[in-house]
Amino acid sequence: MLPSQQYRQPDAGGVLAALHQVNMRYGYLPQDEVRQVAIELGVPLSQVFSAATFYASFSFTPVGRHKLQVCEGTACYVKGAPALMGHLQAELGVAPDQTTEDMTFTLKRVRCVGSCGLAPVVRVDNETFGRLTHSDLGIILDKYR
Ligand code: FES
Repeated sequence: MLPSQQYRQPDAGGVLAALHQVNMRYGYLPQDEVRQVAIELGVPLSQVFSAATFYASFSFTPVGRHKLQVCEGTACYVKGAPALMGHLQAELGVAPDQTTEDMTFTLKRVRCVGSCGLAPVVRVDNETFGRLTHSDLGIILDKYR
């Protein structure tokens, strides 16, 4: 039997459901847990990692309590998103895709979040803040600290 024949046909829905459960439990995907998903579902590890890396909602590193997303789509970019991102990096001491030491914020770059009329836009978790200036950012950060 070839090594690949020992695996069942991968069930994409089952893999995603299992990854979602791990993500809910830990807030991210610890690599040992991802390996365990592959073993328990009897699918190739590459199949599980493929699903885990495809979806932006999964992370292999611990994330903060709040996801701070700076929109860098075209409308936001021309209205000052790079300056907002720079200000947030300096204020939080992290680069995009990093989490603050106190695990409060994970800073993310995102493309258009569908609120171009409010550019520049920052989202914290599921809340959208628009037409932002530097001074607004401090108020927003304080709200979530
Ligand atoms: S470009 Fe930022 S919301 Fe559309």
